[in-house]
Amino acid sequence: MTSRIAWVADSCRLLNSITAEFRETRPFDGLTIGTGIHLEPKTAALIMTLAAGGARIVATGNLNTTQQETVDYLRANGIDVVGGPTSDPVEHDAHLREVLAAKPDLILDNGGDLFARYLESPWEGLLGGTEETTSGRTRLAPLREALGLPILVINDSPIKQFAENEHAVGQSVFESYLRLTNRSTGGKRIVVFGYGSCGQGVAANFRNAYGLVTVIDTDPVKRLEACLDGFDVTDRDAALERADVVVTVTGARDILLADRLPMLKDDVVLMNAGHFPQEIDAAGFLAHPDVVSVIDSTEGLQTLRTRDGRRIHLATGGHMANLAGPRPLGNSIESMDLGFALQSRCLEAIARGAVSADSVVVPVPRTIDEAVASAYLELVAN
Ligand SMILES: NC(=O)c1ccc[n+]([C@@H]2O[C@H](COP(=O)([O-])OP(=O)(O)OC[C@H]3O[C@@H](n4cnc5c(N)ncnc54)[C@H](O)[C@@H]3O)[C@@H](O)[C@H]2O)c1
Repeated sequence: MTSRIAWVADSCRLLNSITAEFRETRPFDGLTIGTGIHLEPKTAALIMTLAAGGARIVATGNLNTTQQETVDYLRANGIDVVGGPTSDPVEHDAHLREVLAAKPDLILDNGGDLFARYLESPWEGLLGGTEETTSGRTRLAPLREALGLPILVINDSPIKQFAENEHAVGQSVFESYLRLTNRSTGGKRIVVFGYGSCGQGVAANFRNAYGLVTVIDTDPVKRLEACLDGFDVTDRDAALERADVVVTVTGARDILLADRLPMLKDDVVLMNAGHFPQEIDAAGFLAHPDVVSVIDSTEGLQTLRTRDGRRIHLATGGHMANLAGPRPLGNSIESMDLGFALQSRCLEAIARGAVSADSVVVPVPRTIDEAVASAYLELVAN
């Protein structure tokens, strides 16, 4: 076992306790689970938990994110992994269809890829499954009637919202600022665009590290919340003019366009943490007529030098800074452990027939949220 896979597996305390239980209770005996999920050390821990419950697992990865080391580890441990790392959508599509060709009894989906394809040639006996993401929920919700199976959406659990989006994204974006720049935050002016659950975590982490944080949000209710949380909520351009660090995390496009380049301070760091790389117009900044040179100043940071001698540092080309650049680790193991405990319990409930057929693309049942929360609290207490 490689050290990182072992480290992650060892740190997943909830999954480890569920694994021990599943070895006894065998909720998936005789069942096949099909999945198309990022194959990396944290998901390996989830897959091994389900396998301990008696499941045969047929798994493939997602585009661009499959780690060969994890594939090798899973295969060595009896998991049927289809394909390997690929960035070719046609090849990826073929891998997903190969997973479905095994006619699994349960599907653990990510982005709706498997359930959407299942509808093209359905088979008898699919019991239902889970969907990990918001984008998958959006894709599958209009297909509810055709699907007609219990499908539980993990992202819609409040636990996922606060444990991952707020706490883990906030922490890993802050960690990524330190990792990429090796600079301090005390006394620095940080501007955070977006005060959703991710932005709240980002703002809190920088403030906890003695940064002077301003929050910008188009929603006045969110601005009020930020204000009552003690953040500065002044005007956007006034904040930008003084910013030492700008973080965008809104999920919207065109948050920071190159027309603002003339007003930015020398030495400012621009980072995006929103899903799409269109929040900061990286291409527009690089092509701005005031930019006279661009250098890779350190791994993960490009420095744009302007005519008047200012330096603008762009992190990870405008891609999610906590998942790009040197040694990106993503969200904390504990937050994924919680999310994957929800996955395991939801699949177990469906395998046991405890979720009604009209629960099609609905949030995690409250009883499961409560059980996972209580189990985590018990681990923390002991
Ligand atoms: N980096 C990661 O690891 C990671 C993890 C989870 C989610 N995300 C991404 O982070 C983004 C935010 O997620 P969230 O859950 O906080 O979303 P959210 O919808 O809860 O919050 C987004 C906030 O941005 C505000 N906003 C929208 N347009 C704006 C604009 N033009 N200017 C200022 N504010 C604006 C909205 O009013 C809202 O308050 C999404 O793209 C999400 O996919 C990233």
